[in-house]
Amino acid sequence: LSAADKTNVKNVFAKIGGQADEYGADALERMFTTYPQTKTYFPHFDLAKGSAQVKGHGKKVAGALIEAANHIDDLAGALSKLSDLHAQKLRVDPVNFKLLGQCFLVVVATRNPSLLTPDVHASLDKFLCAVGTVLTAKYR
Ligand code: HEM
Repeated sequence: LSAADKTNVKNVFAKIGGQADEYGADALERMFTTYPQTKTYFPHFDLAKGSAQVKGHGKKVAGALIEAANHIDDLAGALSKLSDLHAQKLRVDPVNFKLLGQCFLVVVATRNPSLLTPDVHASLDKFLCAVGTVLTAKYR
């Protein structure tokens, strides 16, 4: 990520602010609807629309993205524990990170269209890909 990308990403999360939890939940809901195969990782969740579990999980995912944006020069360090979890314990197939990343971008586009200029879109896409790369780096 270039210096401009980092600024763009930080700006996005600053603008989203207190609504980040809802963005996270919307992105999950969209992922489960658009790519139903992703539901296989959540057999223990109630995945109905508006589910409290999905909302709670959206908050966790958003919190992790904010943490990553706050430590954008050390994504591997900031996401180390989550990387252990996703790669070693959950063993989520890496393709799924692209799907969630796409869904998060679409949520930003629909909820805050003026924010997602092509430049910001490109920066946020790079960031979400970088997060996915870290979270899938520890398979063994
Ligand atoms: C758990 C973040 C992508 C499946 C979690 C947790 C966080 C998180 C913060 C909670 C960890 C904890 O409770 O200590 C993220 C981020 C992602 C991402 C930032 C990418 C941007 C994915 C994808 C899948 C997935 C693509 C599968 C389609 C899971 C599962 C859990 C989990 C199954 C455990 C849920 C539970 O039992 O509570 N993730 N995740 N994650 N994640 Fe992810």
